[in-house]
Amino acid sequence: MPTEKRRIIRAPHPRVEADLSADLSITPTFAERLIAWQKIAGRHDLPWQQTRDPYRIWLSEIMLQQTQVGTVIPYFQRFLSRFPTVQALAEAPLEAVIEHWAGLGYYARARNLHRCAREIVAVHAGKWPNSASQLSALPGIGRSTAAAIAAFAFGQRAAILDGNVKRVLCRQFAIEGFPGQSAVDRELWALAERLLPAADIESYTQGLMDLGATVCTRSRPRCEICPVSPDCQARLSGRQSALPTPRPRAKLPERRAGFVFICDGTRLLLERRPPSGLWGGLLVPPEGEASAVLARLGLIDQNRRNLKPLRHAFTHFRLTLEPVLCIVSPAVAASKPGLHWVELVGAASAGVPTPIRKLIEQIAGETG
Ligand code: ADE
Repeated sequence: MPTEKRRIIRAPHPRVEADLSADLSITPTFAERLIAWQKIAGRHDLPWQQTRDPYRIWLSEIMLQQTQVGTVIPYFQRFLSRFPTVQALAEAPLEAVIEHWAGLGYYARARNLHRCAREIVAVHAGKWPNSASQLSALPGIGRSTAAAIAAFAFGQRAAILDGNVKRVLCRQFAIEGFPGQSAVDRELWALAERLLPAADIESYTQGLMDLGATVCTRSRPRCEICPVSPDCQARLSGRQSALPTPRPRAKLPERRAGFVFICDGTRLLLERRPPSGLWGGLLVPPEGEASAVLARLGLIDQNRRNLKPLRHAFTHFRLTLEPVLCIVSPAVAASKPGLHWVELVGAASAGVPTPIRKLIEQIAGETG
């Protein structure tokens, strides 16, 4: 697990007493760098900042869960003028709440918002609990949202970990593995907890959000202005675009197809594929079950044997090619439109797809 080290650089002349304290330099921690940066370069004028009102902070955090700041601002303001307090929201019919949410999407958020307001009024007598753990027991408030509300409204020391923060931490500490995996998620939560500063939790929390949204962006991160770039493991190893590790690819569907390698001793029979579709326009051996293919082409084989199947991955599926080698007599060699007899030597380079080339090379090696 990554740890933060405070690196103490000793003064070059420690015996010069007067200079000692001045020359003792301490590398700032991740939190210290972030807090200092947030205070001078972070966002301070968003409509849900400069307040400790848990109602406004909660509302903004729910709206911001799946939606960007620029979209949220007008909704936030309209919502507050219609429902200025948690009591007003609790008393309103659900339809009115949904109506003021219309266009923000993820409507379960609006339903939970209404349930949460009613619970605050009915169970908590209109008073918001101030700990992250109590907040996270309320409808629609997950662990990270609870921590953000606890930090911004009550100055509580609690760790947030939304998608943006995961990206920041994965890069800063070179955390490998898809963050949606439970082991990686656990590691990130533990790290987020360890990094919490002793004080200034509001600036730290806002700084993490600001850094993730405006500097440590998914693509083209602005490392040159990043306050924590001196220690960023992703930047130091040039792996910004590889971290966080993307979601593992879904398992590709499996397909099988028979390919009949018809050989008259020196030549191979290839067929031009239709222009569109898999391997469109390329030359491949006729596809299908060997007897059916030979019947279609009016050929009779003297000898037939199965070759080793070959797997090949396409973007959307995996194909197992099941090759069959059929030897026909040169005298019966078929000729039809779209069919090409190609010299076995050189057939591999005759505009055939890669797995077919591999199989031709294998046949040429065995028969040549
Ligand atoms: N995203 C989530 N919470 C936020 C906040 N308080 N300010 C800006 N963006 C956020």
